[in-house]
Amino acid sequence: MNKFETSSYKTIKSALVNRNLKQALYDEGKVIMDGVLLTLHGEEHRKRRKLEHRVFQRDFFKYYEQELFPKTLNETINPFLKKGGLDLLDFGYRITINLTADFAGIDRVKKTPEETEDLLSLVKTFSQGATLVHSKRPHEEVNQEVKKALEKFESKFLIPSKKRREILIEKYKNDEIKKEQLPRDVLTILLLNEDKIELSDEIIKREIAFYLQAGSHSTANSMTHALHEIYTWCDGSHKKMKKIKNNPLFLQRCVHESMRLHPASPVAWRRSECPVNLEENINMEKNDLIIMDLHEANQDKSIFGSDSNIFNPNRVVPKNQFLWGLTFGIGLHMCFGRDLDGGVIPDEKTDPNNHQYGIVALLVQKILDEDGYPDDENKPKADLNTERSNWAFYPIIFGEKK
Ligand code: HEM
Repeated sequence: MNKFETSSYKTIKSALVNRNLKQALYDEGKVIMDGVLLTLHGEEHRKRRKLEHRVFQRDFFKYYEQELFPKTLNETINPFLKKGGLDLLDFGYRITINLTADFAGIDRVKKTPEETEDLLSLVKTFSQGATLVHSKRPHEEVNQEVKKALEKFESKFLIPSKKRREILIEKYKNDEIKKEQLPRDVLTILLLNEDKIELSDEIIKREIAFYLQAGSHSTANSMTHALHEIYTWCDGSHKKMKKIKNNPLFLQRCVHESMRLHPASPVAWRRSECPVNLEENINMEKNDLIIMDLHEANQDKSIFGSDSNIFNPNRVVPKNQFLWGLTFGIGLHMCFGRDLDGGVIPDEKTDPNNHQYGIVALLVQKILDEDGYPDDENKPKADLNTERSNWAFYPIIFGEKK
């Protein structure tokens, strides 16, 4: 087996759309990732993606962002506003657990802080299990924790959520309620299984657990990176901060620029199903591995300019490129949460009052509107448990910076 590495933007783009290259990044994380959408290939992947895509539509994202999310956001942030500060990672996870649970289809019946805390700790364990390949902890230890967490998740959250949906689906099938009255989430779609694809209870369990962690880990980290880049770029300048706060379209650009510099998954791995020739003399035999450095590719000077390694929200990119580069992936496994978290890219016709900004931009806007600034007495800390460059702890305090 040969191993190839590339950081060429062009090569990575062609690899990510190549049907003969199979997902390989999560082979280590099988306990949670075996058989979930992100690890499927070929026909099986196409069918599952088609079925689940029913949940991930732009009209629903807009409704979610404008109607449902502000309420969750206010409920979650209010206790911290009273306290005068928060840790961005902790807050990010608290808020996004509600978001991913809504999309995955996990009910929080009691609606107590303890219940959220419980779900949160399970999801953090799932997240460690999924990204095991980058974990510096003993892998067997993590896997044991993931197995226990899956069992607890099943009895405490999944079974009650399933039961409620099964009753509603029965009512729908008996014409007692309309389809629109069913919850709009992945669990309902899987239980309804209109395409009659093969799905076992074990697969549904891992799929829903995967959804919970896929969205929350990346959203919480994206928000924290974006705020860090903004604070650093403003460097105490009230003028720059005002520009960001008062111009939500510019703030959205800041978020996309930060996403480019900090892709949630810094690499993508694929294994060849047959001989594959990519550009730049990468000639793969069957079962060869290619490791693609998305972090590096997102700084390709020929696309993002000579200052591609720094945060520059005024950056102009060629028409056919995204400012966030390859951060949401492209091609076969392109992220389902892209428009939900990143929003829609504005154009000349965009009305700023009715634009879909994306959840990450909304979170950043809220923190800045509440005058959240890094706590000078309590410095942020990098996450040393992973090779991924994330923050472990990023305290901020509310109130006008002197
Ligand atoms: C800033 C936030 C996010 C980032 C940077 C991100 C990034 C990514 C990337 C890079 C992939 C493709 C991986 C590959 O090609 O190997 C992916 C796939 C996926 N993402 Fe996201 N993601 C984010 C948020 C979300 C959210 C909020 C959800 C769901 C609510 C989500 C659901 C998914 C799913 C289901 C896939 C698998 C698609 C498939 O395999 O066909 N993501 N994401």
